[in-house]
This record gives sequence, C-alpha cells and structure tokens, in this order.
Amino acid sequence: MTRLPSPRPAPGARQDNPADASGWTNVLAEVPIFADLGRRHLKKVAGAGRIVRFHDGAPVIRTGTPGDALYVLVDGKVSVRRRGLPSVALGIGSFFGEMALFDDSPRSATVVADGAVVCLVITRTRFVKLLHAEPAIAVGLLKELARRLRAAQATA
Ligand code: CMP
Repeated sequence: MTRLPSPRPAPGARQDNPADASGWTNVLAEVPIFADLGRRHLKKVAGAGRIVRFHDGAPVIRTGTPGDALYVLVDGKVSVRRRGLPSVALGIGSFFGEMALFDDSPRSATVVADGAVVCLVITRTRFVKLLHAEPAIAVGLLKELARRLRAAQATA
C-alpha cells in the first residue's frame, strides 16, 4: 500500500491508500460546501484529498502548530477546543483547518476526535485549485464562516 509522505499524519492517525477517497464521493455529496457540485466534480474533490482516520481522543490538529491542510469530516465527530472558550462540536459534513490554510498563521484551536473519526484531508495547493475551478465551494465556505462568526459573537 502506497503512503503519502506529506503532510505527516498526527499521532493517533491512520492514513489510507489515497485512492480510497473515491469511495467517499456519496458522503461528499451531503457536505454543505460541496452541495452544488455534480458527481464528476465531487469525484474531483475526493481525488484532491486523502482519507485519514483518527481514534477516539486523538488530536487531529494542535493549537499553535503550522498547518496547510483543510479537513472535511466524512465520519464521526470532533471537538474544537480553544483556551478560555466553550468547546465547539462539529459533526459529519463539517470542515475545519481552513484558518491556518488561508492566513498561514499557526492553528487557532486544538481539534480532538470524539470517537472514531474519518477525514478527507486536502492540502492548501490542491484546495486553492479546487476553489478556482469550483467557485460554488468558496460560497459554501463563506456561508459557514459567517454562521460561525455569528455563533462566536453570540457567545462573546
Ligand atoms: P485552524 O486555525 O487552521 O485550526 C483549528 C481550527 O478549528 C480552525 O482552523 C477552524 O477550522 C476551527 N475552529 C476554530 N474556532 C472555531 C469555532 N468557533 N467554530 C468552529 N470551528 C472553529
């Protein structure tokens, strides 16, 4: 089985053969930011990423570390933990890791697997290419970011 060398999976992560991501196309059709894409384009999204699995309690992302990948949660739940703030639960179809991907700053939160988790992980280069090819993804992403900003304002 071929293993991609980069980016390196976090401790507690298991990385599948990259080809396995194509089997998740049906699940990607249910992901809000990919909702407007047809089957052919969903396959393109699946092909742009690789499937990484995490066991319960494994840190998917750690606060303060560098990061250049976006995570789409295709199975399971994660908890986003920020110092001094209530943690946020994300479920199937959610994405995370977009902040460091876009602004090249360290990760803003620790994201922990809440049970067994499967993520489609897409690197910055590939994700930016997808955004150029499919602007509908960017619109979906912005909608969700606006929703998160409102939720953060409500808890501030
Ligand atoms: P990033 O900073 O790259 O890594 C941690 C991730 O946690 C961050 O990107 C977001 O995707 C996610 N995150 C941070 N704060 C929130 C929040 N308030 N609601 C949902 N997700 C968040």
